[in-house]
Amino acid sequence: MDKTKIAVFVSGGGTNLQALIDAEKSGIIKSGSICLVISNNKDAYALKRAENAGIATAVVLKKDCGGQAGFESKLLETLNEAGIDMIVLAGFMSILSESFVKKYPERIINVHPSLIPSFCGEGYYGLHVHEAALAYGVKVTGATVHFVNEIPDGGRIILQKAVAIRKDDTPETLQKRVMQQCEWKILPRACELVARRIAASL
Ligand code: GAR
Repeated sequence: MDKTKIAVFVSGGGTNLQALIDAEKSGIIKSGSICLVISNNKDAYALKRAENAGIATAVVLKKDCGGQAGFESKLLETLNEAGIDMIVLAGFMSILSESFVKKYPERIINVHPSLIPSFCGEGYYGLHVHEAALAYGVKVTGATVHFVNEIPDGGRIILQKAVAIRKDDTPETLQKRVMQQCEWKILPRACELVARRIAASL
């Protein structure tokens, strides 16, 4: 069976990308192969992680493409050239339009650092999510991997994992624990689940 060709979209540090790269090496991801990393930030450390792993990279900047439509057509062109079957959003800080996501139905997944439907949707990204969870006073939080549809953070849930909030948590300590105990575990597992289903249809 052919492997699912995966592109990972990133914007920043790329610790989730690293978890995916490590999972492919260790065999947790076996039905797919990470072939391309696309960043919308030329300074993203994630690009370095991809280069270190020998994975092709591309930088696509909205400001060079004259806006969202041009940005997305450049993304599509780059994905088509590489024959990509599946997209993983791993800390990708840009919302994709309905017309883009409809081109990859149930073939785009995203990791979000909360238990959806809490603390999600537009404006909830990165550290802000953990600030909001602490401000609300919830006692558990976690991470969610879901399919991407036209509603930000609104697609069908694939996997979730929870952690307890501690009295002395700051947004930073909470973010670190959610990443280590939740995101880096469920993102590779969800990636394999979806890649296996796509590979069976190739
Ligand atoms: C991660 O916590 C990811 O869940 C979050 O940004 C961080 C990226 O870290 N994504 C979102 O908030 C998307 N709404 P990374 O670059 O080290 O993987």
